[in-house]
Amino acid sequence: MIGAGALVTGSGRGLGLEIARVLAGRGLTVHLTDLDEASAASAAAQIGGTAFASALDVRDAEACRAAACATVERAGSLAVWVNNAGVLTPGPAWQQDEAARRLMIDVNAHGTINGTLAALEPMRQSGSGHVINVISLAGLVAAPGETVYAASKHAAIAFSVGTLMDLRRAGIERIDISCLCPDGIWTPMLEDKLDDPAAAASFIGTLLLPEQVAERVGALLDKPRPVTAMPPYRGALIRIVDLFPRLGLRILGPMFVQAAQKQRRIKRKVAAGKWPPSKNAAGR
Ligand SMILES: NC(=O)c1ccc[n+]([C@@H]2O[C@H](COP(=O)([O-])OP(=O)(O)OC[C@H]3O[C@@H](n4cnc5c(N)ncnc54)[C@H](O)[C@@H]3O)[C@@H](O)[C@H]2O)c1
Repeated sequence: MIGAGALVTGSGRGLGLEIARVLAGRGLTVHLTDLDEASAASAAAQIGGTAFASALDVRDAEACRAAACATVERAGSLAVWVNNAGVLTPGPAWQQDEAARRLMIDVNAHGTINGTLAALEPMRQSGSGHVINVISLAGLVAAPGETVYAASKHAAIAFSVGTLMDLRRAGIERIDISCLCPDGIWTPMLEDKLDDPAAAASFIGTLLLPEQVAERVGALLDKPRPVTAMPPYRGALIRIVDLFPRLGLRILGPMFVQAAQKQRRIKRKVAAGKWPPSKNAAGR
């Protein structure tokens, strides 16, 4: 895949930037895109080499198509497209205004659909490619406090896996769609939510580092998988809760007490300069 083109949405910061770094490290010519053009440009400059940047609002289907064409023009192909852009506004849905609810559905669900379809155009022409969609564990189970976000991610994963099946039904074997469902990740999306009880669901399990999740994206390039939960034990646990919603209702109270304690613990660690762990301490 050396020199082939890749595009990452929402890659001006956070997980998207780390994914772009991993793809560039594998020799791909990476097109970093973001709603915030300046952050995409500075992220591309950080990566250097052949990486380049442009503004892209994933809510705009036509703009997604144009970004796919721009990648092919610059790199000669589009081998990988990562739908990473996402937004999260926590809180009970009845406390959110319509604009916040719509934004989550538009960016997380429609954005993933727009990006996937834009990528499939050149990929179907060339006969190969890989679309990687960053979902969340909230795409696999109901997430109290993050319900509209979870609804948008359920839509994104259903669309992604269903479209993969449609590709196979159409006899297209060399285009893959992989969905990655990580637990909470320490990025700007969560960094300002340590005091927010509504966002506790993001802190219940294993708080991941963006570099760890980006590495998993790299592994998916070698071995595509329709759905990957990260870490796997959390994927297994939440699927049980999904199967038995009454169990979820019973464990809700203690689970959220624990999550709030975890938020406080991380806040203390951040204040003491002990979080996030240094690259060496994290074993990376
Ligand atoms: N942080 C977590 O706990 C977590 C957990 C699981 C999954 N995810 C998912 O990972 C992905 C990356 O999130 P992150 O944690 O890096 O968040 P982040 O907020 O740090 O980064 C999101 C990026 O998306 C961009 N963006 C927002 N709206 C956009 C739009 N309309 N068009 C294009 N770009 C847009 C933002 O400018 C930002 O650069 C998201 O899909 C998120 O839902 C995050």
